[in-house]
Amino acid sequence: MKGWMSKFKAIFALVVLALVLSGCTGKPFLSALQPKGEGAEMIYDLMILSIIIMLVVFVVVMVIYTFVIVKYRQKKDDPDFMPKQTEGNHALETLWTVIPIILLLILAVPTVQYTFALADTSPELNEEGEEQDSLWVNITGAQYWWHFEYQDMEVSTSQELYIPVDRRVYLSMGSQDVIHSFWVPSIDGKMDVNPTGNTNEMTLLAKEEGVYWGKCAELCGPSHSIMDFKVIAVSPGEFEQWIKDMQGVTGEETPESATAQEGQQLFQDNCMTCHAIGSSPNKIGPNLTNFGDRIKLGGYLDYNKENLVEWIQTKGLGEDGNMKPGNQMTSAPYELSDEEAAKIAEYLMTLSPSGITPENAKDGVYKDSDLKSLFPKEEEETEGQGESQEDNKDEESSQGSDESSDGSNEGSSEENNDE
Ligand code: CUA
Repeated sequence: MKGWMSKFKAIFALVVLALVLSGCTGKPFLSALQPKGEGAEMIYDLMILSIIIMLVVFVVVMVIYTFVIVKYRQKKDDPDFMPKQTEGNHALETLWTVIPIILLLILAVPTVQYTFALADTSPELNEEGEEQDSLWVNITGAQYWWHFEYQDMEVSTSQELYIPVDRRVYLSMGSQDVIHSFWVPSIDGKMDVNPTGNTNEMTLLAKEEGVYWGKCAELCGPSHSIMDFKVIAVSPGEFEQWIKDMQGVTGEETPESATAQEGQQLFQDNCMTCHAIGSSPNKIGPNLTNFGDRIKLGGYLDYNKENLVEWIQTKGLGEDGNMKPGNQMTSAPYELSDEEAAKIAEYLMTLSPSGITPENAKDGVYKDSDLKSLFPKEEEETEGQGESQEDNKDEESSQGSDESSDGSNEGSSEENNDE
């Protein structure tokens, strides 16, 4: 009876485990198990191949194992029965040496092939065999954000990388402080970025339009787990338009409202040492050219004015110190009143030089539930309708404090589960 009980427990545990694991495919914008890019597909294929090989080995071994146990177990009517003892069977030994070699070869050939293919950053050839112009982006990792500079295009931005869909984008990557690792699970594998001056290169090719979540995959300090970024894949036409719109920005454009104009002046007086608007080489802090279009604040927080004001006032720390601990903004010398910080926030939120925004990438790829976490801005607007502004504010503020009091990454905790 006892034996049956423990067998039942083991089977029950297996069933639970299978159910839990079957939920591991995660979100399409942050899952290596739902590949949407060239590199991610190769990696996924290798995962499937190795799992198939492992399963075949497991099943064959288990069948033989069960057969032997059943066939040669001690018989009740003949307790002294001893099966024939075999030792040193050459045929068998050769067989179980050769089979693993064959299995390893089956796995090794595509693995080596893909490794070289993924490392190849030579220009693509057109049908006539001529080299085509490559789109290169310089990427710099920093504690705890990412800088993107489109080579020969006079376009810089941070945190949200726009790329054209179905075109190979070439990345040239480094770091300005410690080692980070650039990882967009649903598009490609990881690549470390080094502070020592040696540049790593990789390509990125998204096969579907969409907003893809990126993570820093190398422990780089207290805010490593929230060093999130996005890759926004839009149609080639939209991408060209976005580049054109971004090229025109100088940072001197006058915003519409008087408050935002004051904010602009305050920003220029207090923030320009570290931040830039318009094309610029990498600075100490993120480039804010299209800050108004960002999906998330600081890579992972809900994008709203309340959070932004708190961010500015606490220099990226948050009232309880948990917004982005260890970030470089803490050493900024400015002192601002709440009112001044609010004006700067208002100005920053007007920075939307292009009609091409993450919204352009949202068709088709995601389910409604995914859109909710990707575009909380819209959610708030719809929720806010019919309610008084005050109610809405309360709701936002409670969300905001929940987020920061939880410590690290309430905003992206759901996504983190999928890794
Ligand atoms: Cu940067 Cu972890």
